[in-house]
Amino acid sequence: TVKRPLQGLLAIVTSGPTHEPIDPVRYIANRSSGRQGHAIAEALRKAGATVTLVSGPVSLPDPDGMSVVHVETADEMRGAVEASLPADIAVFVAAVADWRVASESAQKIKKNGGGPPQLTLAENPDILASIGHHPRRPALVIGFAAETDDLLDNARRKLAKKGADAIFANDVSPAGGVMGGADNTLRLVTADGVEDWPKLAKAEAAARLVAWIVRRMGRGEDR
Ligand code: C5P
Repeated sequence: TVKRPLQGLLAIVTSGPTHEPIDPVRYIANRSSGRQGHAIAEALRKAGATVTLVSGPVSLPDPDGMSVVHVETADEMRGAVEASLPADIAVFVAAVADWRVASESAQKIKKNGGGPPQLTLAENPDILASIGHHPRRPALVIGFAAETDDLLDNARRKLAKKGADAIFANDVSPAGGVMGGADNTLRLVTADGVEDWPKLAKAEAAARLVAWIVRRMGRGEDR
């Protein structure tokens, strides 16, 4: 086997949630732990790629042997990804908040007897879509689609809309325990069709995903 098949290639991985501030002490977030994204960054590094991991707030240690950029908001994540271009491979695993609070309060919002505050939300930039349609688009752009329903339809739609080569769809219904859990069940959706993967530990899923990347980049055995 080729020991470091991705040697010489640059890869960007986004991982974790984003935090969107409401006021100095509060934020909107989601249940992403960063475990799958970090595992993919590690697997890419093991395969020889030069990796930049752009991570939202997580409680995981920084993986060794790569540059890790810590961000909080979707806007910061987009900036960090843009700043990491050019790249050959980009894998968008982060659970980016779709919305942020339109104007963050400079002061802590108080209970003032006037009832609960009304938060106006604004749409966040879609980082995957902006890179998928970017003038300096990496050769291989991969996204995830965390869904609780209509998994395949949504994944197929995202493939086209976001300009991705592949979408890994996963069911994040609470019963599956994927968000924050140790295992993941992925369905690989490309223009060629759908491939169902078995339930795997996140490190195993990462290794299999990177093996797919190696083949797709023409870096496999039969090179
Ligand atoms: O549209 P949805 O959030 O389901 O898309 C999920 C995919 O898009 C993931 O790969 C995620 O990392 C990426 N994404 C992004 N920026 C956003 C929203 C999603 O990069 N604002």
